Amino acid sequence: MYPMAVSLPLYRDARKADARALAQLIEIAGEGIPTYLWAQRAGEGRTALDVGTERAAREDANFSYRNAVVARVEGKIAGMLLAYPLPAPSAQELADLPGLPPLLRPLVELEHCVPGSFYVNALAVFPPYRGHGIGGALLDIALERARQARCQRLSVQVFAENEGALRLYLRSGYRVIDRRPIVAHHCYPYSTEVLLMTKSAAD
Ligand SMILES: CC(C)(COP(=O)(O)OP(=O)(O)OC[C@H]1O[C@@H](n2cnc3c(N)ncnc32)[C@H](O)[C@@H]1OP(=O)(O)O)[C@@H](O)C(=O)NCCC(=O)NCCS
Repeated sequence: MYPMAVSLPLYRDARKADARALAQLIEIAGEGIPTYLWAQRAGEGRTALDVGTERAAREDANFSYRNAVVARVEGKIAGMLLAYPLPAPSAQELADLPGLPPLLRPLVELEHCVPGSFYVNALAVFPPYRGHGIGGALLDIALERARQARCQRLSVQVFAENEGALRLYLRSGYRVIDRRPIVAHHCYPYSTEVLLMTKSAAD
């Protein structure tokens, strides 16, 4: 089946008003984990997506609309990149590591391996818009931003079983430098490994 025709996508910095679409796309990129975590904070009358939306609307967190770029097609948000320079872990973060839920620990451990890199935390495109180069174009924007931020390399994590995304990162020049086993969990469809990939910002 051929993907539907998509008119030329436009790219811009995300705005606070995009927070709900950003949360939806973060959930697509995180494949169940974000909703699982947000649901734990959702109270009466608030859904997991409401929590994600509030978090995306923050000004001063890594997961903030300020670190996101959106792709738009005919005025609608079609995809998103969330990426930023990764700070070195604090002593407190390192001390907290053993107590993290087993679901998160491998992901956080790998983040700690690449301080100073420009970290592609989330990349997602809504299903109807896939296969038209939007994901690849967002990765090109990540490269530009890494250079502007004077980061020498970019990093990304991908579940080994997410073959489509893995292919896209390989094609974009990322290479696997480390990996961790993951635990199976009802909230996401994977059970083998998470891969840490990097790419030089000079390439
Ligand atoms: C991975 C993703 C961002 C790619 O976006 P995209 O706009 O379709 O990407 P492009 O058109 O630039 O490139 C297409 C490539 O994406 C990959 N891909 C993954 N899933 C795909 C899908 N459902 N449809 C089309 N391409 C897909 C393939 O590698 C494809 O290349 P191919 O031609 O070699 O098969 C998108 O499929 C997506 O949102 N997937 C779910 C979220 C996800 O897995 N994010 C990455 C988490 S690490």
